[in-house]
Amino acid sequence: MSAEATTLGRLGGAVVSVPDPDASAGFLEAALGFEIRPLDGGLQVVCAGDYGESGQVALELRPGSETGLVELVFEVGAGYDLEALAERARGAGLAPAAAGGEEVAFVDATGIGLRCVRAAAREVAPPAADGLRPRRLGHVNLKAADPGAAAGGWEAVMGMMLSEQIGEALYFLRIAREHHNIGLRPGPRGELHHLGFEVAGWHVYEPILDRLSSLGHRVEYGPGRHTPGNNIFTYLLEPSSGLRLELFADMGQIAAGAEHEPKRWQAGDRMTQTLNRWGPLPPESFLA
Ligand SMILES: [Fe+2]
Repeated sequence: MSAEATTLGRLGGAVVSVPDPDASAGFLEAALGFEIRPLDGGLQVVCAGDYGESGQVALELRPGSETGLVELVFEVGAGYDLEALAERARGAGLAPAAAGGEEVAFVDATGIGLRCVRAAAREVAPPAADGLRPRRLGHVNLKAADPGAAAGGWEAVMGMMLSEQIGEALYFLRIAREHHNIGLRPGPRGELHHLGFEVAGWHVYEPILDRLSSLGHRVEYGPGRHTPGNNIFTYLLEPSSGLRLELFADMGQIAAGAEHEPKRWQAGDRMTQTLNRWGPLPPESFLA
């Protein structure tokens, strides 16, 4: 089967529940420049996306008693074989729901909701250009009771590839070239650690963080540079929901088709070698 038929297009977006969607959207609009659009039962958080003419519905905010992940959405190209995906899911003991050859949805073995849809069905007009607005949702870092088992399932069913691993507790998986689109760590099902949004580069952190400061917000951690992915990071918390957002830049790429042996760190390397090449370690809140 061709790579086109088995390789997901991109992480399309995340559906998250938050206690007050209007408040979360207000922060995302005022502090980071996202465009907010109405949606049945919630709000869409839109940015420009990273390919083609379409923007990206990076987030769908739904009202809920607790902040959490409802579903991850992956976009696939016209040549992607959704029936084969459904077959792999069935083979893994899951119960995929297919919709007219255009969509497959299932809950993975660890309880995470996944939906794969044709990219053409998710096309939206991009918002007006804004050099400071995050370009796209690039990765999601979430919790699973057994992250190793979850990672194995995502490799087998979703065709994702392991890029890097820290002990038995942190797994970084990629769709194609970008170092990771999914991170998995131990914790309660569906709980998010962070949503990773790509920004244009090092030069935009200053104006973004100055704007946050002027609005009375502080970063939680960073700027710094992670070792896995070699990306620059800054983390902040959306005040009303506690959603943790990472603004990342310069994410590493892994050559397509290359034999990539996943980098495996010892658990004890996490604090000393992987979290921040520039030095300062995170606050306790980040490690929970
Ligand atoms: Fe991240």
